[in-house]
Amino acid sequence: MNTSGQETKPLLEVKGLSKVFPSTVALSEVDFTLYPGDVHVLVGENGAGKSTLIKLITGVHHKDGGVILLEGKPIEPRSPRHAQELGISTVYQEVNLIPTMSVAENIFLGRQPMRFGMINMRAINQQAKQLLRGFGLDIDVTRNLSSYSVAIQQIIAIVRGVDLSAKVLILDEPTSSLDRHEVERLFSVIRSLKQRGIGIILITHFLDQVFEIADRITVLRNGHKVGEHRLAELTKVQLITEMLGKELTAALDNKQVTAREDGASTKPFLEVRGFARHGMIEPFNLVIRQGEIVGLAGLLGSGRTEIAHLIFGIDQNDQGEAFVKGEQVNLSSPRKAIQYGFGLCPEDRKVEGIIGELSVRENIILALQARMGWFNYLSRQKQDELATQMIEALHIVTPDAEKPVKELSGGNQQKVILARWLVSNPEFLILDEPTRGIDVGAHAEIIQIIKRLAQEGKAMMIISSELAEIVDYSDRVVVLRDRKKLGELEGNEINESTIMQAIAAN
Ligand SMILES: Nc1ncnc2c1ncn2[C@@H]1O[C@H](COP(=O)(O)OP(=O)(O)OP(=O)(O)O)[C@@H](O)[C@H]1O
Ligand SMILES: [Mg+2]
Repeated sequence: MNTSGQETKPLLEVKGLSKVFPSTVALSEVDFTLYPGDVHVLVGENGAGKSTLIKLITGVHHKDGGVILLEGKPIEPRSPRHAQELGISTVYQEVNLIPTMSVAENIFLGRQPMRFGMINMRAINQQAKQLLRGFGLDIDVTRNLSSYSVAIQQIIAIVRGVDLSAKVLILDEPTSSLDRHEVERLFSVIRSLKQRGIGIILITHFLDQVFEIADRITVLRNGHKVGEHRLAELTKVQLITEMLGKELTAALDNKQVTAREDGASTKPFLEVRGFARHGMIEPFNLVIRQGEIVGLAGLLGSGRTEIAHLIFGIDQNDQGEAFVKGEQVNLSSPRKAIQYGFGLCPEDRKVEGIIGELSVRENIILALQARMGWFNYLSRQKQDELATQMIEALHIVTPDAEKPVKELSGGNQQKVILARWLVSNPEFLILDEPTRGIDVGAHAEIIQIIKRLAQEGKAMMIISSELAEIVDYSDRVVVLRDRKKLGELEGNEINESTIMQAIAAN
């Protein structure tokens, strides 16, 4: 049945699909059915097998067992290109188009209308414009793709994908770097694709989004399918319980951190005055005390990451001064920041952090080792201890600490980088979107760890787009908009609606 309750033939059907990697059964006899016009959401913890399922359907990997049927006929996708020819398109979080070419050229890449042997640019531009307009996007298609936001680029990639094949569209975590407004825009594109009878498979860790857009939900755990539901018959608690295989509260029971005593020490660890960089962020003052958690709230592009980069010395301030424990310091490079006891876990962990060839253990101890100095070698026993501890605390799914990080699932790679900074033992830790791409169980663990570190006296600065999370752990919240600090909220003033109001205030 589809959403309107009528009997419909499945568009895509997967039966008994399996995939085995040398040390991992990534997928074990999974069944999955997609109907035309349905949004079928795949959920599950990091490493559950979601991306693997997609990669088998799109020919990135080859299955070890099972069948894939498209409109009732068996298919054997050999490559993403072959899958696309069959009618199955994928849009990954990292948009796979060419940033230096125009929007129109990107849409018609590899299939340009020719005229007298020449590419007919006028026709391309016209068709591209029309196509995008059909999805409510009225933009200048002659501009370079890179001049548009990631959100717009994703929609362009989707439009290109469905224009090419138009039966099945697969989106693997497309919303993880979008703000609320952009998610809305993407969802309205998805709704119009539904109307055209396209079947959509969506992977996301944002449960609110699941309940907003899904018709049907399949839950994977440890490579197995553990449930399939129509949205209407499911509650959030049921869904989380099924994903984790246990109740979330039970999962955290023994780990309750006692309520943090208020009044972090009054000693400032870091103080910056009139810090700014032209074109990047307007002058701001900021104090972060030992044992204090300061949240940075604001929309995408509001200047949160820019503040982190200035303070950590990735970019240099051209105004203002900084003090660490009362002494004036020069934060002109990350190396200096690290010497003063700073640590930064970056937002784009794929680009800035992962060393895929190194093992989970080696990736985890990297920052600590660098801080201690390479001549002061951490014993293998200590390394094993730290790695094991973090694998357990963050539920990193890996057969052991020696597995190369590149073989972990996306979310588990993120956990490894986060672990690197959590064990690096800095006095002041900056975390940029620490829970992005992380499943609901580990999400709660990470928040507990953040609180515990503050309790141990660390100064913490945390950037997050998830307001509930910021409200939960912050002693103070710095509100930003348009590359400018608007103000701060403190103690009882901090809740989701005060933050939203502050962001929107005139
Ligand atoms: N190329 C590979 N080599 C070895 N193991 C792999 C490879 N790709 C994935 N795996 C393993 O397969 C399992 C499933 O990974 P998959 O990427 O499908 O998870 P996922 O559900 O997409 O998780 P996430 O939410 O973290 O993206 C994981 O245990 C992962 O380590
Ligand atoms: Mg994945």
